[in-house]
Amino acid sequence: MTTPKICPTIAELRAELAPMRARGTRIGLVPTMGALHEGHLSLVRETKKRAGLVAVSIFVNPTQFAPHEDFDRYPRTLEADCARLAGTGCDLVFAPAAGEMYPRGFATAIQMGGPALGLESDFRPHFFGGVAIVVAKLLIAAMPDIAMFGEKDYQQLLVIRCMAADLGLPIEIAGGAIVREADGLALSSRNAYLSSEERQVAGQLNLVLRAAIARLHKGDAIADVEVAGAAALLESGFNSVDYVAVRDAQTLEKISDLARPARILAAAKIGTTRLIDNMAV
Ligand code: PAJ
Repeated sequence: MTTPKICPTIAELRAELAPMRARGTRIGLVPTMGALHEGHLSLVRETKKRAGLVAVSIFVNPTQFAPHEDFDRYPRTLEADCARLAGTGCDLVFAPAAGEMYPRGFATAIQMGGPALGLESDFRPHFFGGVAIVVAKLLIAAMPDIAMFGEKDYQQLLVIRCMAADLGLPIEIAGGAIVREADGLALSSRNAYLSSEERQVAGQLNLVLRAAIARLHKGDAIADVEVAGAAALLESGFNSVDYVAVRDAQTLEKISDLARPARILAAAKIGTTRLIDNMAV
């Protein structure tokens, strides 16, 4: 199996895509920060079912990390990533240097409201601005027909959908299902930071969410279920809980009943590693 061709610049990416687009090929894009695992690869395979050509971007985006976060130690494994992409249907890898995405004098920001308010933003206030600007740049560079993002980062998916709609980008923003380990832990590049004891604790996050959903279906009040979920995470060995929240699945607004589709979302820390997960209620 051949590994996909790597384009390090926007000009090269466009030069590869333009003739394909002219031929009428549907183009798909899967944005990532690399350290690829089965969750990323499932998005690539899913996108390949809906597009003739699939490009994967690999870029550890500095603007979505706060100074105290893990930008410097975030895994960078381009060669292994390209090897992993062989056979998944990925045709092209866009792997720009930071200066290609943020050249000297770069001065544009995107400030997101709507689904970006609350939850992750309460704990990572810089995060969605950074995601929105880099994804907007990636979308404008590749101009795909479809771009796919994982439900693993559910709030991010809604924020990107909102940004693309607000900017009038003629691109379908698709969501891919969460890929999980055997014990239910959602795959994440950050799972690599966990010690073996921490890894055991991490496996409880999805179970706590499942138990919370069962209680909601039994008719327990949303506020009670949120409080009990956070307590259960601490009990399981998480050292802090940022949130366990039941929200409107479309808008992420607070809700008081399950009249409309709902989503439960959680973020908690084990040691210095912050994990997130979510499920349909
Ligand atoms: P990254 O964390 O590398 O994730 C890239 C894509 O893979 C995201 O859409 C994410 O939701 C998806 N993904 C991660 N783990 C998954 C899993 N277990 N199952 C299904 N999909 C999963 O998210 C980012 O990068 C960045 O914020 C990015 C959008 C690339 C902007 O920099």
